[in-house]
Amino acid sequence: MPDDTTAKRKDEHLDLCATEQVAPVENSTLFEGVRLVHCAMPDLEAGQIDLSTSLFGKRLKAPLLVTGMTGGTERAGKVNEDLARVAEEAGIAFGLGSQRAMAERPELAKTFSVRHVAPTTVIIGNLGLVQAANMSLDAIRRLTDAIGADALALHLNPGQELAQPEGDRDFRRGYETVSALVKAYGDRLLVKETGCGISPDVARRLVDCGVRHLDVSGLGGTSWVRVEELRSLGVAREVGAQFSSWGIPTAAAIASVRRAVGPEVTLIAAGGVRTGLDVAKALALGADLGGFALPLFRAHQQGGVPAAKRALELVLTTLTNALLLTGSRTPLDLRKRPKVITGELKDWLVALTGSADSLEKNHG
Ligand SMILES: Cc1cc2nc3c(=O)[nH]c(=O)nc-3n(C[C@H](O)[C@H](O)[C@H](O)COP(=O)(O)O)c2cc1C
Repeated sequence: MPDDTTAKRKDEHLDLCATEQVAPVENSTLFEGVRLVHCAMPDLEAGQIDLSTSLFGKRLKAPLLVTGMTGGTERAGKVNEDLARVAEEAGIAFGLGSQRAMAERPELAKTFSVRHVAPTTVIIGNLGLVQAANMSLDAIRRLTDAIGADALALHLNPGQELAQPEGDRDFRRGYETVSALVKAYGDRLLVKETGCGISPDVARRLVDCGVRHLDVSGLGGTSWVRVEELRSLGVAREVGAQFSSWGIPTAAAIASVRRAVGPEVTLIAAGGVRTGLDVAKALALGADLGGFALPLFRAHQQGGVPAAKRALELVLTTLTNALLLTGSRTPLDLRKRPKVITGELKDWLVALTGSADSLEKNHG
């Protein structure tokens, strides 16, 4: 039975994300609590900075990705196609939004299919944990195979589900589902949050299940609780309002998760990452890549492909400058440089890792 409610909800989400204040100003990533240390004598030439990295067996020109956003309607298909084209040209990875709509209506595959515009770069499929728990592994594999994806992102969003009157309420047996997906996808599985962050203990358990790629998508950027609050009325709206600052700030999630999982796990910093300097700070705290959703979506809504390209170019230039000004040739060099951690970020790190100087042990 085709389900139009998923597609309708997706379009409502896009409308709200295009125009409303879905990233509450009172929320912070806590990147302001990180200061990188200036190097007055870099002894490097800009052309020597090497931002390239690998992800899911492919080489990227820069440690960046467009994190999963959309699909399922004609409008969403256009966003995917345009942003995938920009990602291909920049040599960065591209994530699709939840393929739930495609599972319900296979003819919607065309709104997720971007291989024709992104023939070489990493493309990541997407499904929610709760949906995945109710599908067979074969059915899930068909979703990613149909679009030629390199990997599957499994998204975690209990905060959003609870803020959605029609959302899921049963989050049991999540680790079982993750373990089953690890059997099917091996190290081509990415587990991501959607704006409330991943804590070090959850990260550790996911890694124990065999997960090798995590996107913390923490607090400080798009709040899905806020989006649902804006869609709701009455009590549901008030509940949403009370939880729209819920979550682990992205900087705290990255630094503490890196400490918990060691150097082998690929860590993506997303959730309120807005500039190349934010990416540099995330890399210094232990991330391997930085991810963007809302800024690229908004740039695309306002000025199409040229605006999205320009936004990305700005990120790449400031990221390169930050590496140069810290005397780092590669992102890994940057991770080894000293950094100053202040204020609330320090408090979070003490609470999550037992020590604010845990960062000194993050060199992986
Ligand atoms: C319009 C929009 C739609 C999104 N849809 C999905 C989705 O379907 N699946 C998912 O895993 N994350 C989804 N996200 C979450 C992002 O991938 C990301 O984790 C989150 O927005 C934080 O990044 P940001 O602050 O840069 O937006 C969406 C984000 C936006 C802005």
